[in-house]
Amino acid sequence: MSSFEKIITCIGAGYVGGPTMAKIAEKCPQYKVTLVDINEARIHAWNSDQLPIYEPGLEEVVMAQRGKNLFFSTDVVQGIKDADIIFVSVNTPTKTYGQGAGRASNLEFIEKTARSILEHAEGDKIIVEKSTLPVRTAEALERILSTNTKGLHFDIVSNPEFLAEGTAMTDLELPDRVLIGSHETPEGLKARQTMVDIYANWIPLDRILTTNVWSSELSKLTANAFLAQRISSINAISALCEKTEADVDEVAFAIGKDTRIGPKFLKASVGFGGSCFKKDILNLAYLSSYYGLDEVAAYWQSVVDINEWQERRFVRNMLTSMFNTISDKKIAVLGFAFKADTGDTRESPAYTVVRELLEEKAKVVVTDPKALKNAKLDLADVADKVDFEEDVYKAVEGAHAIAIVTEWKEYKELDFDRILKSMAQPACIFDGRNILDHDALYQKGFNVFPIGKTAKTHF
Ligand code: NAD
Ligand code: UGA
Repeated sequence: MSSFEKIITCIGAGYVGGPTMAKIAEKCPQYKVTLVDINEARIHAWNSDQLPIYEPGLEEVVMAQRGKNLFFSTDVVQGIKDADIIFVSVNTPTKTYGQGAGRASNLEFIEKTARSILEHAEGDKIIVEKSTLPVRTAEALERILSTNTKGLHFDIVSNPEFLAEGTAMTDLELPDRVLIGSHETPEGLKARQTMVDIYANWIPLDRILTTNVWSSELSKLTANAFLAQRISSINAISALCEKTEADVDEVAFAIGKDTRIGPKFLKASVGFGGSCFKKDILNLAYLSSYYGLDEVAAYWQSVVDINEWQERRFVRNMLTSMFNTISDKKIAVLGFAFKADTGDTRESPAYTVVRELLEEKAKVVVTDPKALKNAKLDLADVADKVDFEEDVYKAVEGAHAIAIVTEWKEYKELDFDRILKSMAQPACIFDGRNILDHDALYQKGFNVFPIGKTAKTHF
């Protein structure tokens, strides 16, 4: 007989499952929390000193709870048998084959999990959708689970995750909100209350929102779509700024002062990356066309289209600014991670930038303080054409241009006098994140090309 009040199992020990369950274990010592995964290497890493993902503050929590009320295992079956509550946090990538290829979510992993639960469960359970899923996925899960012949009852609850990489632990400590979607039947409301009770261990009740299942599923896709839409909107305006001598940072500041708009997520950039924005918007667009709403699909699709255009526009600007040829010119790409403070490169704009530069036959060198290993994997097919360099000063030596693609703090603190002397002249800097002091660089002798601001050139 376990001395724990509740047994929680999470299927999928990735970027979401790991930090989320570590936080629950930290805040609820009365629960036993086990993460299970089919990826043996990942589980091995979770049980070692080298955790499989880097998040500030995560290691401390894992080290404090591991072996007490936080466990990592490859035994998915036992995890299912033991649990009162099963969080499902498996990956839901974009489908690459068949109907909906390139747009729809690949639901293979989530469905396999449901079938495993069906096969191995020996008691009633609450099943929590933690993965980001198309609206009405719970219906499919219910249909699968209701075929059980053991007389078991399963409640499906939607509890999407809103954490951002790099700030996962602080996001989980005090989230803007926790969202719990359940059916509004007596059993559904009881499952909802069980979920509220977990989070109420550390989150104020007014931040725990409850809705029906479908609203909860759709809110997750909508939140990501709205966030990405703000970036595409300001990036679209950045192009207009470059034509009109307006300054995109000034425009963003001015509109952000309107409390109805607000200041966040208005930083113009070379484009948004990350594992989810693109996949979730494509999924939203696919779902809309599935329901016959082609105009809605086209509207959301345009958010992704503008993003891809912005990435290519960045390279096109480099080309035209460097006298319409970059063939054989050395270009130093500073940053390959999709954002600062992570080694994650999934859907990073750097991926497109490097490939477009190679199309123009540039000699590309990539540097990044945390993501060089992933950059090498992402560029494996063109590795013979790209140099990877840990030392940023070596990376820029002899370069005709620098492209800032990730907003690493250390790039703001570089010795640009030293850099200018080591570069080919005229030296150009394309600041894809607007993090540098453009006036100061221009005074030193650089030709500076920001995003959404007039270029400062000596020629
Ligand atoms: P991930 O790829 O890092 O982790 C998923 C894990 O699930 C993998 O380790 C995989 O081996 C495991 N898995 C797959 N099928 C399994 C099975 N049948 N049994 C056991 N384990 C299985 O993915 P992630 O980044 O953690 O994302 C998970 C979900 O959360 C996705 O739906 C994503 O959209 C969503 N999400 C991600 C983030 C983020 O910042 N990464 C934020 C919010 C929501
Ligand atoms: C995003 C959301 O912020 C999370 O709420 C969500 O849970 C998560 O996706 C998910 O579902 O996976 P994440 O992708 O980790 O989180 O990181 P963000 O901080 O949102 O940045 C995404 C991209 O947008 C980065 O490339 C970033 O550089 C870019 N960005 C962000 C801008 O270009 N401008 C901005 O103003 C903000």
